[in-house]
Amino acid sequence: MDYQVIYFSKSSLKNTKRIADVIAGSLGTTAESVSPETKIKTSKVLFIGSGVYIGRIGKSLREFMDKLPQMEGQKAAIFITHGGGPVKATAEIREKLEEKGCIIIDTWDCFGQWAFFKRGHPTEGDMQNARNFAQETTRKAENQAGVERGELEIAEQQ
Ligand SMILES: Cc1cc2nc3c(=O)[nH]c(=O)nc-3n(C[C@H](O)[C@H](O)[C@H](O)COP(=O)(O)O)c2cc1C
Repeated sequence: MDYQVIYFSKSSLKNTKRIADVIAGSLGTTAESVSPETKIKTSKVLFIGSGVYIGRIGKSLREFMDKLPQMEGQKAAIFITHGGGPVKATAEIREKLEEKGCIIIDTWDCFGQWAFFKRGHPTEGDMQNARNFAQETTRKAENQAGVERGELEIAEQQ
C-alpha cells in the first residue's frame, strides 16, 4: 500500500474528516475513520489525524494507537485541526507512534471551526495547505528512504 490515512473526527462539522479526505484524495487513496476494525498496513507513509478535545486527541484514536504492533521504520505524518492550539495533540500522537518505532516525517495543523470560534475553518486555503503538506511529506519520505538505501550517495557520484 502506498499511503494510509486514518483520522478521528468528532464534531458535527467534521473538520478533521474534511482535511483527511483532501490529504487522501491528493495521494490517490481514501481516508479511514478510526474504528475497532481499522487495520494498519505497511505503507510508504502512514498519515494520522485528529481534532483536539479539551487538549487531547480523540479517545478511540488513542486506544487504536495503544494497540498497534511495533512498526520499526514505518514513516508517518501527523495532522491536527483545533480551535486554538495543536501542540499537545501533535505531541500525543508523535509519542505513541514513536513508541511503536515510527519515524515522524512531518506534522501539520490548521484551525477548525468550534461553535462561534474560527468560523469558516478549514477554509479553501487550509485545504490547499493540506494538499501541499501531503505532497511535501511524500517527497521528504522518498528522500529519506534514498538516504537510508544509499541512493543519494550514488546519485551524487554520477
Ligand atoms: C468538545 C470539544 C472540545 C474542544 N476542545 C478544544 C481544545 O481544548 N483546544 C482546541 O484548540 N480546540 C478545541 N476544540 C476545537 C476542535 O479541536 C476543532 O473544532 C476541531 O476542528 C474539531 O475537529 P472535528 O470536527 O474533526 O471533530 C474542541 C471542540 C469540541 C467539540
